[in-house]
Amino acid sequence: MKEKNKIKIAPSLLSADFSRLGEEMKEIENLVDMWHIDVMDGHFVPNITVGPVVVKSLKPRTKLPFDVHLMISQPEKFIDAFIEAGCDYITFHIEVTTHPEKILRLIKNKGKKCGLSLNPQTPVGAIKPYLKLTDLILVMTVNPGFGGQKFMPSCVDKIKELRTIYNGDISVDGGINDISSKIVMAAGANILVAGNYIFSSTDKPKAVKKLTEDYGGR
Ligand code: DX5
Ligand code: ZN
Repeated sequence: MKEKNKIKIAPSLLSADFSRLGEEMKEIENLVDMWHIDVMDGHFVPNITVGPVVVKSLKPRTKLPFDVHLMISQPEKFIDAFIEAGCDYITFHIEVTTHPEKILRLIKNKGKKCGLSLNPQTPVGAIKPYLKLTDLILVMTVNPGFGGQKFMPSCVDKIKELRTIYNGDISVDGGINDISSKIVMAAGANILVAGNYIFSSTDKPKAVKKLTEDYGGR
């Protein structure tokens, strides 16, 4: 595997304590690679979360990149705002647009990493024409909208299929814990997004380490 495909951990702050996000991040900052920010609009998904203002206020508190996961209907409208707020990776869903290449270029032209995400029901074929334009693919292993859901093993074959045709980063999001992490890494994924498993743990550093335990670490 290339250096850029090394295993990375991206804690999803959705399951953190929002009243003390900075402290929650500090506790595991030296054990992880980037912060996963879930942005929901109450339209594409049945939930509402945070916007650029939160990224902007967290930016001075960390050296790590921000990996924003846009679960919103018109991502093109908000790309600039998230970039200005300090995001480094911007991923949006293939299900929301018929012109993903335009949005991917918009992100790339600003010098940021771009990604496409696909829901559990969406086949790899839907993103195939755009793979060359992406830095990462985010494979959802739950239906997007909420943290703390159960991992869907039916999505694992998609990770395997994607790895046979894609050299970029493959990120997996939804129900990742110390068991499912090993399954998705074996299938070819190299970025582990984990929310509930890390932030509901009484020993967060230990939970983070267990994600890659017996797998050569990160
Ligand atoms: C779900 C979000 C995920 C979620 C992951 O819509 O995209 O990032 O917060 O959380 P867990 O790890 O709890 O499934
Ligand atoms: Zn996410």
